[in-house]
Amino acid sequence: MSLSANAIKVLEKRYLSKNENGQLLEDVNGMFHRVAKAVAGADASYASAAELQALETEFYEMMSGLEFLPNSPTLMNAGRPLGQLSACFVLPIEDTMEDIFETIKNAAMIHKSGGGTGFSFSRLRPKGAAVNSTGGVASGPISFMKVFNAATEAVKQGGTRRGANMGILRVDHPDIMDFITCKKDNADITNFNISVGITEEFMKAVEENKEYEIIDPHYKTAVGKLNAREVFDVIVDMAWSNGEPGIIFLDRLNQANVTPALGEFESTNPCGEQPLLPYEACNLGSINLSLMIKNTNQPEVDFERIGTVVKKAVHFLDNVIDVNKYPLPEIDQMTKSTRKIGLGVMGWADLLCQLHIPYNSQQALELAEQVMGFIQEQARKMSIELAERKGVFPQFENSSYQQQGIRVRNATTTTIAPTGTLSILAGVSSGIEPLFALSYIRNVMDNDELIETNPFFKQAAIKGQFYTDELMRIIAKKGTIKELAEIPEYLQAVFVTAHDISPEWHVKMQAAFQKYTDNAVSKTVNLSSKATREDVADVFNLAYQTGCKGVTIYRDGSRDSQVLNIGKVN
Ligand code: CDP
Repeated sequence: MSLSANAIKVLEKRYLSKNENGQLLEDVNGMFHRVAKAVAGADASYASAAELQALETEFYEMMSGLEFLPNSPTLMNAGRPLGQLSACFVLPIEDTMEDIFETIKNAAMIHKSGGGTGFSFSRLRPKGAAVNSTGGVASGPISFMKVFNAATEAVKQGGTRRGANMGILRVDHPDIMDFITCKKDNADITNFNISVGITEEFMKAVEENKEYEIIDPHYKTAVGKLNAREVFDVIVDMAWSNGEPGIIFLDRLNQANVTPALGEFESTNPCGEQPLLPYEACNLGSINLSLMIKNTNQPEVDFERIGTVVKKAVHFLDNVIDVNKYPLPEIDQMTKSTRKIGLGVMGWADLLCQLHIPYNSQQALELAEQVMGFIQEQARKMSIELAERKGVFPQFENSSYQQQGIRVRNATTTTIAPTGTLSILAGVSSGIEPLFALSYIRNVMDNDELIETNPFFKQAAIKGQFYTDELMRIIAKKGTIKELAEIPEYLQAVFVTAHDISPEWHVKMQAAFQKYTDNAVSKTVNLSSKATREDVADVFNLAYQTGCKGVTIYRDGSRDSQVLNIGKVN
C-alpha cells in the first residue's frame, strides 16, 4: 500500500479508531480490515464461512490496493458502534413548526455520524403568510434555513466531520428572490450549499422572455408572476459574484425517477450528485481510474480490470445497505426499499494524463462516454446478478425496471461524487475534475494545509529532461504551464489545469459522464477571475442543453476563503 504522508495525516485525524485518550487503536491496514470484515458480514446468510472469508479478503485487497474506496462514513464507522455508513441523506420539511424542528433534530443526528443532508424548503409558506394557530405571521424559508445552519454549527464540534447541507428552493416559490441572494454577505448560512430548483416551465419562459407563475405552496395557488429572464439574471449575477446559488433541473431529475410512486425528488445531497426521495439515504464509492491502465510503454485503458473492480464494488456497496445502522426508522425503511447505491470514479484527469489525452479534447469526451458507459453497464449487470441471488429491491414492482423486465437489486447504481477526501487518500485527482494545478496547496479539515504535486507531470518533466526545482516553483506560483518555453507544446496541451480549460469543456465533460450515470454528477465549472456574467449565463444554458442535471460554477477569487488555491506555497 502506498499512502502518502498527507493521506495518513487525514486518516489519523478522523478515520482511525482511537481510545478515550486519543491514542490510535488501529493503523491504516487495520481500518481496511475492519471495514472489509463488517461489510462482508452482510453475506453471512448467503455464504459458507470460507466464502465469507474470501469475500472479506477481496474487499480488503480492493481498498488497500486503492482500486476502490467507499465514502468517508463507511471508512470511519463500519465495524464500530456508531455504524452509520452513508454520505447522503434527504429529509423532508413539512410546513409545521413541529416538523421543522423535528427535521433539525434528525439532521443533527446525521451530521454527528459524518453524513450530509439535503432539504427542500419549498413546502414552507412564504415570509409574512398567516399562521392560523397564533394569528401571527410566518417567518419564511430563509429564516428557518438560518436555524438549520446554527444547529449544524453547534454539532460540528462533537461530530466526525463538519456537517454539510444542501438547501433547495423552487424557482416558483414566493420567497425565491430572497433565497437567491441569501448568501450575499456569506455570514449567516455558511454550512449550506444552495441551489435553485429550476422547472422546465421556467427555462421555457427564460427562452421566450416571458413571465412565469409564482405559487404559494401552502394554498397551492398562483399568487403572482415574475419575469423569468430577470430572475435568471439575478441567479447569474449572484453565482458570478459568489459561486452560489447553483441550479438543479428539478423536472429533469424527476424524469429519471425510477420509483415515482414512492414520491418526488425535491432535493439532492449537499454536493448535488445524489437526488433522493424524502428519507432516502445513499452510500457512495469510487473506482480509482488512475490505476486502470495497462501497457506502460504504450498506455491504454484496462477495461478488464475496471470490470472486475466494478463487480466487487457493487457487491460491496449493496452489502453496506444491510450492515448500515440508520439514524431513523423512516430512513432505514425507505433506504432498504429502493436499495440505491452510487458507484463513481476518481482520478479521471490522472488517467487522461497517463494516456496523453488533453482534458479539453473531443477524444477525452469520447473516452469519458466509453469508460462511464462500461461502468454503468457492468454495474447494472452485477446488480442483476445480486438480484438473482438475494432478490430484487422491495419496491421493484412499483418501478420502471419492472415495466422494462430488468430484475435489479438496486434502483440506481451509479453516481459521480466529488471524492474530496477519498482522492486525498488515494493520492489522485478528484472525481472527474481536471487537475486544479500541477502543484498546489489544499486547505482541508479545520484549516490544515496539504501540499500536493502531480506525479505524472513530474514523471513527464524528468523524462523530457526539463525538470528543475526552480521551474516547479514557478509553475506552482503561475498555476499553469501555458507559454513556458522550456516545456514542449504537446505536453502543455496534455497537462492542462482547470483554468486553462474553457467553461464549455467543463460542461461538456460533465454531460459526457451524466449520459451514463443513473444519479447525478458532481462537478464545478471553474471560471477565471475575468469571466463575465454572460460567461456564467452561457454555462447555465449549455448545461441545460447538454442534459446535465444541474450545474455549479466558481469564478476564481470571487470569495475570500476558498477550498483550493492557485499559486500559494507554504
Ligand atoms: O471523499 P468523501 O467520501 O469524504 O466525500 P465526497 O465525495 O467529497 O462527498 C460525498 C458526499 O458526502 C457529499 O455530497 C455529502 O453528501 C457528504 N459530505 C458531507 O456530508 N460532509 C463533508 N464535509 C463532505 C462530504
